[in-house]
Amino acid sequence: MSAGKASRARKILRGRLLWFTEDPQTAGERAAHYFEDGALLVEGGVVQRAGEANRLLADLAPGAPVEDHRPHLIVPGFVDPHIHFPQTQVIASFGAQLLEWLQKYTFVEEQKYSDPAHCVINARFFFDELLRNGTTTAVAFCSVHAQSAEAFFAESERRNTLMLAGKVLMDRNAPEALRDTPERAYTESKALIEKWHKRGRQRYAIAPRFAITSTEGQLEAAGALAREHEDCHIETHLSENLGEVALVRELFPWSRDYTDVYARYGLLGAKTLLGHCIHLSARERAVLAQARSVAVFCPTSNLFIGSGLFDWRATREAGLRIGVATDVGGGTSYSMLRTAAEAYKVLQLQGQNLPAMHAFHAITRGNAEALGLEDVIGSFEPGRACDAVVLDARATPAMCHRMEAVRTLDEELFVLMTMGSDRNVAATYVMGEKACDRQEPARPKALARA
Ligand code: GUN
Ligand code: ZN
Repeated sequence: MSAGKASRARKILRGRLLWFTEDPQTAGERAAHYFEDGALLVEGGVVQRAGEANRLLADLAPGAPVEDHRPHLIVPGFVDPHIHFPQTQVIASFGAQLLEWLQKYTFVEEQKYSDPAHCVINARFFFDELLRNGTTTAVAFCSVHAQSAEAFFAESERRNTLMLAGKVLMDRNAPEALRDTPERAYTESKALIEKWHKRGRQRYAIAPRFAITSTEGQLEAAGALAREHEDCHIETHLSENLGEVALVRELFPWSRDYTDVYARYGLLGAKTLLGHCIHLSARERAVLAQARSVAVFCPTSNLFIGSGLFDWRATREAGLRIGVATDVGGGTSYSMLRTAAEAYKVLQLQGQNLPAMHAFHAITRGNAEALGLEDVIGSFEPGRACDAVVLDARATPAMCHRMEAVRTLDEELFVLMTMGSDRNVAATYVMGEKACDRQEPARPKALARA
């Protein structure tokens, strides 16, 4: 792993380039930009030009050093809009649905983050793992402890990654060691915002965990933070599990539905990211669409915890914005490729579909747009940060074998999303600097591409 700031020097990344400037679901073929022999001209960590390698090399940057990734594919770094930093040792916990899973595993593990040393060690691991998987931006929940957010941002700053995160707010229905108060939630979040929000590439997300673990007083405090810091995101959970929905109805008897609880406290806006959004009524979808909030689909988590099937079509038709995320450690993989594979299956079970181009758009530019950061990350348009992932579709014997029968980019992307994982990440770049590199796998000579 290399760390540190982007160097000012010019360089070129060469390979098969793919990025999106629009949503292929609405814009069709013009949404994607693909260069079979492409190059990115990078200066100060920022994309200056992207296009045909021959032209760039000869006309625009003769003599600039070239990092040649042919025949691999270079796409913008993956964006994961919902993940839990303190759940690296919760992932793969057996046999429970949401509320039991939280009590039995999650709340036990998150207590360890009262120890700053534990936070620091795990932050290092977490960032290694994200970058190994090609994820260069994430929206993370930390634990209730301010020191977990401190460790997270310090590590992100060290890696120069663009990250959004917040300490979770929770003052009921959790062990005492994980409960703060409305006042502590407010003052600790405020101090973290003042220290970290927009410091370099770091951004703060106000993080009421979900309605069940916050009193009305605490939701009010979260609303006050949101009003006072309009350019901070808000991250929370909504309508993941039927038992959760029923409990919210009991805890907030005045509410029309779950969404109404967040609406009451001023927590719904264009910067609000709501994990799951599975069991929503048409009314709730309409309210969320009106607020321009984002429904975050977490397929590996929804299948693993047995929460239900996210209805992509109904969500889109209601005009709601959608993100696609891992939700580790309810989710079972850090890989956005594995996440796309499970998203495809969740849609298949409902007679819907997720073409590869749509999936690759979703995990790059689509998620950047869901965060309102499409002018900063998520594509290779000039002026965007050069956060990128280099993908090798032939990384395993089975994929190498399958790829022999592949004829089109679309087919290759579908193989990558269906069979792919961290093994397919040949390198990850953060602001034009290699942040993670893989040893080239041994592969039969006859199958290697020229
Ligand atoms: N709802 C509230 N907290 C959590 C969490 O940590 N994971 C998931 N999947 N759902 C939640
Ligand atoms: Zn979650």
